Amino acid sequence: MQSVVAQQIPAELRQRFQTASQVLVLTGAGVSAESGVPTFRGGANTAVWQGLPFDVISSATALEHDLSAVWQWFDYRRGILRYLEPNAAHYTLARWQERFAQFTLLTQNVDGLHQAAGSNDVIEMHGSIWRARCISCGVRFEIPREGERPDICFACGDRLRPDVVLFGEMLPTGAFELAAHRASECELCFVVGTSALVYPPAALPEIAKASGAYLCEVNPEQTPLSDLCDVVLTGKAGDILPQLDQ
Ligand code: OAD
Repeated sequence: MQSVVAQQIPAELRQRFQTASQVLVLTGAGVSAESGVPTFRGGANTAVWQGLPFDVISSATALEHDLSAVWQWFDYRRGILRYLEPNAAHYTLARWQERFAQFTLLTQNVDGLHQAAGSNDVIEMHGSIWRARCISCGVRFEIPREGERPDICFACGDRLRPDVVLFGEMLPTGAFELAAHRASECELCFVVGTSALVYPPAALPEIAKASGAYLCEVNPEQTPLSDLCDVVLTGKAGDILPQLDQ
């Protein structure tokens, strides 16, 4: 693993970036940090809300026992997100979809900032904070940026829940399979702003690497994935990703 600071993007990475046709990017909370979205982990901190660690309130068990508390946590997060804008990293990744013959953007984020920056076909591995889903019939509803969120299903009348993957739940049907397929095909894989602790998404760079891809991590901190990477660019996504375009 080659570890370099942002200003020294290695020639090999630049050359691969210029010639690659199949590129995959996996993003995590860190890609939105410069927009003002708090990360879950990193800097030796863990997110806590009303005394509850995020992985307790964001869990299938919490949903089962207290749907309204789970909504309060997601309402709180939407309240923060409502006024935040994409940053340079989101905009750079949106440009990359035009640049490569096949470009796949996988995100663990539920904030919708990649789409706000113009990215299409984002594979949302953990759902979206801007949608609700019926706990019975599964119909999905957009949650407006302003005004009330729906809490009753218009189709069957049952309660709605956040359309977000909680701890203890499976990923959306087919999301991991599609992501794993794209990971196995890509030549160049970027892992941006994720602690790489949550599986199955953290397995995707491993699949890419095992299938022959060149693996590049972008993160101010080391992660469990760092040693597997061909190159680690140490710094902020909003500083580093635009430099690759130059
Ligand atoms: P984490 O909060 O675990 O990790 C954020 C990572 O971003 C850390 O490694 C930071 O060092 C890094 N980081 C911070 N600022 C950055 C910046 N400006 N540029 C680049 N990197 C930066 O977030 P995730 O790895 O996304 O799941 O967490 C994975 C999942 O755990 C989330 O999707 C969420 C959470 O539980 C669910 O809610 C299901």
